[in-house]
Amino acid sequence: MALEFAAKLRRIKVYPAADGYSLGPEVALMASNETPYPPLPGVREAVAEALSGVNRYPDPTNKALREALSRRYDVPVQRIAIGNGSCDILLAAGEALLEPGAEIVYAWPSFSIYPHLAAASGARAIEVPVDDRHGHDLAAMREEITVATRMVIVCNPNNPTSTALPLSEIAAFVADVPRAVCVVLDEAYCEFNLLDDPDASIDLLERHPNLVLLRTFSKAYGLCGLRVGYALCGSQEFRTAVDAVRQPFFCNIAAQAAAIAALRSQDAIAERVERNVVERITLTDGLSGLGIEAADSQANFVWFDLPEAVEERDVVRGLAERQVLVRAGTPLGREGALRVTVGTADENQRFLAALGELL
Ligand SMILES: Cc1ncc(COP(=O)(O)O)c(C=O)c1O
Repeated sequence: MALEFAAKLRRIKVYPAADGYSLGPEVALMASNETPYPPLPGVREAVAEALSGVNRYPDPTNKALREALSRRYDVPVQRIAIGNGSCDILLAAGEALLEPGAEIVYAWPSFSIYPHLAAASGARAIEVPVDDRHGHDLAAMREEITVATRMVIVCNPNNPTSTALPLSEIAAFVADVPRAVCVVLDEAYCEFNLLDDPDASIDLLERHPNLVLLRTFSKAYGLCGLRVGYALCGSQEFRTAVDAVRQPFFCNIAAQAAAIAALRSQDAIAERVERNVVERITLTDGLSGLGIEAADSQANFVWFDLPEAVEERDVVRGLAERQVLVRAGTPLGREGALRVTVGTADENQRFLAALGELL
């Protein structure tokens, strides 16, 4: 007899995994918004040292990492949550806040895990289309907030569309959301955003206990293989709730040690972000040379519509045949679009040359 699964399983879409895990080093991996650079100084050593203690469980309170984050951002340790990647905190937030009858509001296209929160909890997802410049339509999102709304997510810069809103617009939006609604500002790519100081949003936490800034070590800090993210919260209650719904040892010893070491490498991070932004401009200019106007990227990837004369799947396949992996737009929410992670200078040139051949 077949196993009988919970009804929610039928609502949950499979996360669109990227290819490339078993491919050789010659393949340009430009599909998952990773950093193309090796681990930051001190990370390998910190991980090696942590490995000598793997016969013990990791510190379930993540004390040293939370203290390091608290010193860096001047947010009290009680208001800092850690996760096995920031996705872990998002999923826990869904479990803690959502249930049948509740609503969650987010833009679309946006990060592909957001629909999962509603599907897993039985809450209703309200997806507000991005505007014609691929940005969040905050006025339309505000209109969707009702007494049933428990959670609103604003992804800034937005994945997959790459655009960001100025912090002043986000601040006005947060001020207008009722206090009982949790606002998650997903800032996974904030380090690459040139519109505002990446840490300026932290000041909003003092005024808004319902605000959560979701951050990750996966992108600018280059630790996605170890899985560690964090949330800076406007109040302690969010952290207590997300900790309550998870298993105790969600962040492993190596990840905690690596994140602490990476936080000490701010100069190296600034230098890498700068390199990435320069390469982002090279990519955008190269695309415009091919007659393609990319969205105004403030992230470590670019997003654009392909010319109508070509099929998205043919281009993605053609690029893969030329050893360049990118993301097709359709599974991310927009047919005919592509999302391309900024790679090394060499990878970006290979991508542009390959795309040029295919158009
Ligand atoms: C917008 C956004 N938020 C969160 C994440 C999750 O990152 P992680 O779970 O690796 O911290 C990602 C990863 O791609 C993302 O694009």
